[in-house]
Amino acid sequence: MKICCIGAGYVGGPTMAMIAKQCPEVEVTVVDINAERIAAWQTDELPIYEPGLLEVVREARGRNLFFSTEVDDAIRAADVVFVSVNTPTKTFGEGAGRASDLQYWELCARRIKEVSTSDKIIVEKSTLPVRTADAMERVLHAGDNPVHFEVLSNPEFLAEGTAIADLENPDRVLIGGHETEAGQRALQTLVDVYAHWIPRERILTSNVWSSELSKLTANAFLAQRVSSINAISQLCEATEADVAEVANAIGTDSRIGPKFLKASVGFGGSCFKKDILNLVYLCETYGLDEAAAYWQQVVEMNEFQQTRFVKTILHSMFNTIAGKRIAVLGFAFKADTGDTRESPAIKVCRELALERAEVVVSDPKALGNAKQDLEGVESVVFEADPYAAVAGAHAVAVLTDWEAYKTLDFERIYAAMEKPAFLFDGRNMLDHAALHAMGFEVYSIGKGRLSHLD
Ligand code: NAD
Ligand code: UGA
Repeated sequence: MKICCIGAGYVGGPTMAMIAKQCPEVEVTVVDINAERIAAWQTDELPIYEPGLLEVVREARGRNLFFSTEVDDAIRAADVVFVSVNTPTKTFGEGAGRASDLQYWELCARRIKEVSTSDKIIVEKSTLPVRTADAMERVLHAGDNPVHFEVLSNPEFLAEGTAIADLENPDRVLIGGHETEAGQRALQTLVDVYAHWIPRERILTSNVWSSELSKLTANAFLAQRVSSINAISQLCEATEADVAEVANAIGTDSRIGPKFLKASVGFGGSCFKKDILNLVYLCETYGLDEAAAYWQQVVEMNEFQQTRFVKTILHSMFNTIAGKRIAVLGFAFKADTGDTRESPAIKVCRELALERAEVVVSDPKALGNAKQDLEGVESVVFEADPYAAVAGAHAVAVLTDWEAYKTLDFERIYAAMEKPAFLFDGRNMLDHAALHAMGFEVYSIGKGRLSHLD
């Protein structure tokens, strides 16, 4: 069997590397129009940082895993074509700011139709609005092309930073197919690929529309939990309750469960916001205004949590941060990735800069992306070494939960800072009592502040 995957990004690269590793007899070619990205996949300096990814790529690359810019050739040769291109929020025209921009997906469909000379299974790997497969089928079968395309939905549930573990041992794989004979045959073909390493009972099958909608729903539910606990964090700060204790107390209820209850400066990442906005837009399209407003609030709570974090910095530092050096530790949207798409750090740094603070950004993997995200923002500097970043700072703000930040020498950091030395823990990950004992003014999310100034 030959598989082609269009899109060599955060999803296409790792998922195809895993399929190639687990299915040595399947030839997998990942193609992209971005030549620089493809070139990087062919080296050991992969275009994305993901723990464990290089080992998986190295095992299969050159054996049955290939990266190429020859999109047409790879499509033509394939039995199964995964489409894993970006589906960002539309920035123009109808639905701007909410609907998915489907132009990249449609371009792929047109390309597939144009170059194919044999029947193929087309797999939606990208996250798409429910009923996209319908549009795709109409594009693929328009005109008098004798080739038959069977469209499946196979959304990806990996999270960045843990992509390899998620792919190796997923909670489930979801495949949606049509209830026709050809649909079920195609579905079985894809089931058999995943069954190389995933127990059959974890490979769920459904109709195409349920599969498409399940992906948006899963992300909406996950993000909703973060916004819910962040809403409670605000009440905790007003009432001396501790959000970690509340999260622990509710998370032990087996109906609620402990995951995704960590209060934070807000969720980031390329998908939560985009997918919820897409869900909101879909609800509106079907005239479901109450459902749309319900999900919209998850995004608004998240924006507010980020703005609130900056306000806490400003108000606690005597209502002025103009000219003050603020060291931002962590710019990636979460630990173990260099990805900064929709990272809360972007908004926080921009708002700090608007208050004319001197912002110093540090991150172990994301400084390249951070520079692009903050291009044109005055008074922002970048410093890979966290100790250099904090030297002479009035405040430290921790925005990414990098494990390495837990073991920084905070005595040394305190000594290097202006006094009073403020520390804002946007991830609730540090030992606040110990930091307070060292002399820091400690502010976190959903917990009382620890101050020497009262
Ligand atoms: P990405 O931007 O990292 O990668 C997409 C790639 O597609 C880019 O390299 C781009 O050059 C390429 N591309 C676009 N149009 C093309 C075309 N016509 N021909 C060939 N290549 C083309 O995006 P991503 O993060 O991998 O996300 C891809 C999809 O997967 C999105 O729909 C996203 O919502 C979904 N998703 C992402 C994640 C994640 O963790 N990033 C997880 C699950 C699902
Ligand atoms: C998320 C989902 O977890 C994946 O299942 C999905 O495939 C993916 O989106 C996608 O569709 O792109 P990802 O965004 O990579 O994965 O990372 P998450 O671990 O979900 O974290 C998202 C954001 O929420 C991060 O900024 C994280 O710091 C934040 N978060 C997460 C919290 O603030 N609190 C929590 O308790 C959990």
